Amino acid sequence: MSSQPTPRPRVAVVFGGRSSEHAISCVTAAGVLAALDRSVWDVVPVGITTSGRWVLVDDDPAQFELADGKLPQVPAAGPSVALSQDVESRALQTVSGEALGGPVDVVLPLLHGPFGEDGTLQGLFELSDTRYVGSGVLASAAGMDKQVMKLLLAGHGLPVGPWTSFRAKRWDADRDAVVAEVEALGYPVFVKPARAGSSIGITRVTDRAGLEAAVAEAVAHDPKVVVEAALSGREVECGVLEDLAGGEPRTSLPGEVEVVGGHDFYDFEAKYLDAGNVRLSCPADLPDDVTAAVRRTAVRVFEAMEAEGLARVDLFVDVERFRATDGAEGIVVNEINTMPGFTPFSMYPRMWAATGVDYPQLVDHLLTLALQRPTGLR
Ligand SMILES: Nc1ncnc2c1ncn2[C@@H]1O[C@H](COP(=O)(O)OP(=O)(O)O)[C@@H](O)[C@H]1O
Ligand SMILES: [Mg+2]
Repeated sequence: MSSQPTPRPRVAVVFGGRSSEHAISCVTAAGVLAALDRSVWDVVPVGITTSGRWVLVDDDPAQFELADGKLPQVPAAGPSVALSQDVESRALQTVSGEALGGPVDVVLPLLHGPFGEDGTLQGLFELSDTRYVGSGVLASAAGMDKQVMKLLLAGHGLPVGPWTSFRAKRWDADRDAVVAEVEALGYPVFVKPARAGSSIGITRVTDRAGLEAAVAEAVAHDPKVVVEAALSGREVECGVLEDLAGGEPRTSLPGEVEVVGGHDFYDFEAKYLDAGNVRLSCPADLPDDVTAAVRRTAVRVFEAMEAEGLARVDLFVDVERFRATDGAEGIVVNEINTMPGFTPFSMYPRMWAATGVDYPQLVDHLLTLALQRPTGLR
């Protein structure tokens, strides 16, 4: 009997992209490329430049690491490639249409923000029946948009805080009415671009004067703005991972983010450039019943949003309020991230590590999930 060698599935690791989170995506790619076992996976790294050009890049994770606070970037110099839109051919192609190697079995889209995490890229994969890791078009788009996300969660009876939303056009045309809606929330408020991430464009505002500048800042990133009342409580995050056997999604032990100094909140600097001022604890030091409630809520959020593969659900947890209301209140959902920060040091992988799934296992789990899921409407 002769046994055929098992062909290694071809994985296109796609990263970078047009959003303001380009650099973070590169850092994630560095971690994932370093973790993938080349005897199991045939890895093709594909970078998307800040202007949106797809290029083959060298399989050298080190070039995308975050070193000395310097943000990495996809080099514009590589050969241009495109993913076929033809269901008959799932190979990467040169711009002249020549196929580069065999078909892509699965794409690992490691992009954050618009044009990557928001369903646009996922739509491209759907067109060619290409398998990919993570949420589909709808969940990606709805999870990216903080207004739509809140409407969906509230519609499913999940707890979200007080908020309002408007477009730049209305802010310009009908400012007094919008200001009144915002001020009804009571200062401080958080002013956010509806579709961004990594805290980009977000300002904590304590008065009317600050509001003008904050809206201008948010609008610089997105013409749609969301304003939220400041929530009290501890910032807790929970990892969700689809089960390989099709059972209920699994949850990690929750983690906690504490900004210990120098920052108003968990802003971009605190997230990526000033780790000394942030304490990420995992598991979060919470009473068992609160931990259980956080994990149940995370699964409900994942299912309400129709997420797939993985997500990180971020919540505010007020343990006293939870106690005082017998668990009826005290947990508020801040957001779902359908492609959470995924460097080996990011909260999502760390929470899974604390739950017994290490980084390479996590990447393998996600690729295996994606390979076994059907294409088309699911
Ligand atoms: N309503 C709120 N109340 C208190 N803090 C908030 C609120 N909204 C955001 N923050 C702070 O701002 C950070 C970033 O906001 P978030 O909505 O998570 O945006 P992003 O999608 O950029 O991560 C949060 O991690 C938290 O520290
Ligand atoms: Mg967040």
